[in-house]
Amino acid sequence: MTQIYRPRRSVLYVPASNGKALAKLPALACDAVIIDLENAVAPADKIAAREKLAGIFADRAGRRCEMVVRVNALASEWGADDLMAAVRCEPDGILLPKVDTPRDILEAGDVLDDNFAPDEVKLWAMIETPKALLNIGAIAELGRDPASRLSCFVAGTNDLVKDTGILATPDRRYLVPWLMQMVLAARAGGLDVLDGVSNDFRDSDAFARECAEAAAMGFDGKSLIHPAQIEAANRAFAPSPEALAEARAVKDAFSLAENTGKDVIALNGRMVERLHLAQAEKLLAKAAAISA
Ligand code: COA
Ligand code: MG
Repeated sequence: MTQIYRPRRSVLYVPASNGKALAKLPALACDAVIIDLENAVAPADKIAAREKLAGIFADRAGRRCEMVVRVNALASEWGADDLMAAVRCEPDGILLPKVDTPRDILEAGDVLDDNFAPDEVKLWAMIETPKALLNIGAIAELGRDPASRLSCFVAGTNDLVKDTGILATPDRRYLVPWLMQMVLAARAGGLDVLDGVSNDFRDSDAFARECAEAAAMGFDGKSLIHPAQIEAANRAFAPSPEALAEARAVKDAFSLAENTGKDVIALNGRMVERLHLAQAEKLLAKAAAISA
């Protein structure tokens, strides 16, 4: 099965309760938005925020970016009603917070199935609890079963810092091992995986550095809190001009008549295998999807 690439380089949280921020959406160049009912909305505003969802989704026609709703935890007093309201909007995804086990995904999936949500409505999972990290392989495995709807992991780094007691350092040294586990598990399950947010939205140098590291770690994109972060994320998670030139060279080399049927060739003094051709083709397809 050929996987269709959907760019998820820049994924912006927008509180459902913030009318001014919501009004900005049509002008933003992010690949996806997460309309948040959870942490960005104060308890007193939860119900009013949920009631705004339908209106937010009413004028999405023609929009390029994916639209996802983050509901409150299903165990909370708001979760069940949030999920029903989100299903009615037929979003591209519903992001579940505080996922601990595969069961959390399966139970939400059952609610979607029982309420006739189209197959296109996917589930995204926050990976933000110690339990989720201990169960990450089993959770990711659901990605191999389309009926589970699981499509994407989102690192919840603020919660992980809070729940584990690690020190949040600028180089994220204590978080990196867990972030790498998320990437590994996501690949095993065929899922996309997004890095956590950078809280300091005024420090654009630090942000660009964090994006470059996340791209090098294998993340597909970054979750964002502020429009000022979109451009740097789009740049960091798109294939670089150098990588594209290299990919074209690999593709051209394998298409030479003399290399037909060969599995290993030499290119500019380096060994190149057919697996590199597959990798190159994937990168070129990714660049094409981004510029489409
Ligand atoms: N989405 C869309 N627009 C946003 C935005 C967002 N996430 N964050 C800020 N903006 C808009 C503001 O409304 C403001 O609009 P204006 O020019 O019409 O006044 C403009 O961008 C500049 O915002 P700025 O003044 O720099 O920031 P702020 O003080 O208004 O907001 C935050 C700062 C952090 C409160 C805000 O960015 C935010 O709420 N982000 C999302 C937080 C969130 O969802 N957290 C949960 C997941 S971790
Ligand atoms: Mg969280």
